[in-house]
Amino acid sequence: MQDDIPALISKIVPANSQIAPLEAEMWKRYDRFISRRTGDEDPHLQVDSYHATIEPIDADKIPLIHELTVGVLWPHRPADIQLFEKLGDGYLALDEIGRPLGSAMSFKMADDFAMLGMMVTQPRLQERGTGQRLLRRMMRDCAGRDLRLSATRSGYRLYESAGFVPVATIWQHQGIAHRVETPTPVLGLTTERFDVHQLSEEDVAQIYAVDRTAFGADRSDTIRALLGVSSGTVLRDVTGIRGYALLRKFGRGKVIGPVVAEDDQTAWQLAAPLLQECEGTFARFDTPVQSDAFRAQLTNAGLELFSSVTEMRIGTDRRPKDGLQTFGLAAHSLG
Ligand SMILES: CC(C)(COP(=O)(O)OP(=O)(O)OC[C@H]1O[C@@H](n2cnc3c(N)ncnc32)[C@H](O)[C@@H]1OP(=O)(O)O)[C@@H](O)C(=O)NCCC(=O)NCCS
Repeated sequence: MQDDIPALISKIVPANSQIAPLEAEMWKRYDRFISRRTGDEDPHLQVDSYHATIEPIDADKIPLIHELTVGVLWPHRPADIQLFEKLGDGYLALDEIGRPLGSAMSFKMADDFAMLGMMVTQPRLQERGTGQRLLRRMMRDCAGRDLRLSATRSGYRLYESAGFVPVATIWQHQGIAHRVETPTPVLGLTTERFDVHQLSEEDVAQIYAVDRTAFGADRSDTIRALLGVSSGTVLRDVTGIRGYALLRKFGRGKVIGPVVAEDDQTAWQLAAPLLQECEGTFARFDTPVQSDAFRAQLTNAGLELFSSVTEMRIGTDRRPKDGLQTFGLAAHSLG
């Protein structure tokens, strides 16, 4: 149950002695879910009175996925789904005349990690097993990889039954951006605005490295694609890039993310110029950072708390506990 999340999180945070039972439970549920014999390799599926087929997602399916996301009131534009389709793989369940019933995607990063996302079942056909079938299929495709996803309230129990354990709350802040003062720079660090063509190869390599530390896996291909559709800020000291933030069009307006920095102050130094660029327009910022002070700054900038999701994982907990941290997500599906 969603209400049990803080209790479960407290099990994994405080003492190592308490980690083992949660890990054991995670793998027990994973094994039970993944080994269930439901004829999942069969590309046919009975959903209610519908005979559905499951097909791999390709570029031709973008309008159908968009239709599903609109049906659950997600804000994605076709261009946002196009980016996801380029970066991931997935499955779409279709009825006999080609109408979309459900979708699920995986975003494989490095050799041993994947994000899961874009899980949607058409509202009137939910709770009939489509989500479970698509999820199991993706999890089998990703066998051997650590998995991470951002669970909405409606998906939480399904993921929990598949073995996922909670990691942290992700706070979705959004709204019309207000005027933001330029923060006083942290001594020894400079903030630079950039468009992608202004970055050198060395800069890009340093952004990949900074991101890898905070994200817990190498997602250079994802960052490369995001850089192609974003502008951003980097934080430098004499040793090189110490943090970065990106801004791109998404949904109803713009999204700020990823944002990677070592602390609240430097994260704000990266985010403030991007919020200034959004002044008077709709902006979104999804943060896994639990600091009240950081989130209060977002609220003061006009980005109120709109909703929250729970980051969940199967496999190693890859989020670092100190040093470089993720302050802003690129997207729920991309982390
Ligand atoms: C999350 C979501 C994709 C799940 O899809 P779904 O097709 O409803 O999933 P399933 O039917 O496989 O499973 C959902 C529940 O129905 C139950 N169920 C499955 N088949 C069933 C059946 N034949 N009869 C009754 N219940 C059934 C499952 O056990 C599960 O129950 P649980 O919540 O107790 O675990 C769907 O709720 C959705 O689209 N939500 C809105 C978008 C969203 O938030 N997506 C998640 C992003 S992380």
